[in-house]
Amino acid sequence: MARIMMSITPGMPSSSSSSRVSPPPPSSVSGAQSAPSSTSLPIRTIPGSYGWPLLGPLSDRLDYFWFQGPESFFKKRIEQHKSTVFRTNVPPTFPLFTGVNPNVVAVLDVKSFAHLFDMEIVEKKNILVGDFMPSTQYTGNIRTCAYLDTSEPQHAKLKNFAMDILKRSSKVWLTELLANLDTMCNTLDTDLSEKGSAGYLLPLQKCAFKFLVKALAGADTSASSEIEEYGFAMLDKWLALQLLPTVKIGVLQPLEEIFLHSFAYPFFLVSGPYNKLYEFIKKEGREVVERGMTEYGLTEDECIHNLLFVIGFNAYGGFSIFLASLLSTIGSDTTGLQERIRKEVRENGGPSLTFESVKELPLVQSVVYEVLRLNPPVPLQFARARKDFQLSSHESVFDIKKGELLCGYQPLVMKDANVFNEPETFKPDRFMGQGSELLNYLYWSNGPQTGSPSESNKQCAAKDYVTITGCLIVAYLFRRYDSITASATSITAAVKAK
Ligand code: HEM
Repeated sequence: MARIMMSITPGMPSSSSSSRVSPPPPSSVSGAQSAPSSTSLPIRTIPGSYGWPLLGPLSDRLDYFWFQGPESFFKKRIEQHKSTVFRTNVPPTFPLFTGVNPNVVAVLDVKSFAHLFDMEIVEKKNILVGDFMPSTQYTGNIRTCAYLDTSEPQHAKLKNFAMDILKRSSKVWLTELLANLDTMCNTLDTDLSEKGSAGYLLPLQKCAFKFLVKALAGADTSASSEIEEYGFAMLDKWLALQLLPTVKIGVLQPLEEIFLHSFAYPFFLVSGPYNKLYEFIKKEGREVVERGMTEYGLTEDECIHNLLFVIGFNAYGGFSIFLASLLSTIGSDTTGLQERIRKEVRENGGPSLTFESVKELPLVQSVVYEVLRLNPPVPLQFARARKDFQLSSHESVFDIKKGELLCGYQPLVMKDANVFNEPETFKPDRFMGQGSELLNYLYWSNGPQTGSPSESNKQCAAKDYVTITGCLIVAYLFRRYDSITASATSITAAVKAK
């Protein structure tokens, strides 16, 4: 480990506005003193093929969703081609996605994946979830920020609007978070004492929904009993219908292939609930909407649909996955981690929880980073070549042609053994001390954890808010409880703090 750490080049280029993010040179991550530089690596033709028209994509689709599943799909092809860069197809595809081109170049190691952040050589127009784009009807016929390339002037306006919302929300972020955590934990405590176990997924989603709507849009869900009770479920449905063609659910096959992956779902199935959310934000989030109009030159419609997308897709979608994996990872640990976290939180955390107090919790921070490394909430990232360029993996250099779509699958990239020691293992201390240099290679936010989101890149606007919020939640839990036993869906025991 030390050898790897010593050889990591400090100051991996950040994704700040003007700087270009270039992938780490192989010598900087491999630990081998004599490793060749990118320029001396052999040029290799990209292995793999797209197969016969229709049949190749269909066979890859069935492997991806049915016979192998996404992780084995990519793993098996790395072994087959002896390369972390290769050609393949990714769904959705044949027969009803005729306008969607499934051909991609997979990039599955830390070094080749980092090309996705270099906005000089790749573009990100309409490829948030690949060549397939859910209908813009889901967002009021508006292409929201996440679908815009940095070359489109509207991207800068909307990204700055999103970052402004976050900045202003920081005044209430903590109080709203803590109030909603209190409500969630009270519910869980009652369920635990009455039923002996408490399913936490719905309470967690409810908590995240109310907190995010209040913090980001300034809208209090209690103003509408329907939104208060069912708002989160409305978002779940809206998200699911957009993403179903691209996500493996685990329903009995071939039902999943026939009904969930064969066509795009029309917006009208969720238009009622979405319009209710729209009207709610229009009324209760008035101040934020008006700021978007006066300070960022956006129309009312652009403000509201983008706000809903940021809250519903980016924030609520991301937190729903991240917080569940954070809770289940810590709650199922049997190595004494909880004791160490509890000690750190109570000894170093100060009298009350603040953004500042979290800085004194290096173990908690490292645990949050490690959970994001092993369970990146947004597993797939895409980018299209803006021009011809050469792409490097650790071993080879490949020619990429303008227009080709690159596809990175983060759960594998984050287990790159050239960078992460014992990559499959959950190591709570991994990012502590000298390990903090590995943050240059933690990519959950579509950029390195050491980078800065800006209008000139596509890194998550809330990169730091997400990790700090994760830390605050862990600290909150271990101030309230001595220990928690949790599975992927429920808490089976929680010992209250003595
Ligand atoms: C755990 C929670 C979150 C996760 C995992 C997450 C992850 C991501 C990822 C991976 C991207 C890049 C997508 C791509 O282009 O491939 C992204 C973009 C974005 N995220 Fe987050 N995000 C989270 C929370 C938030 C929150 C709370 C906000 C609130 C403002 C936010 C705002 C954005 C915006 C505006 C973009 C688009 C950036 C751009 O187009 O330049 N995200 N997020």
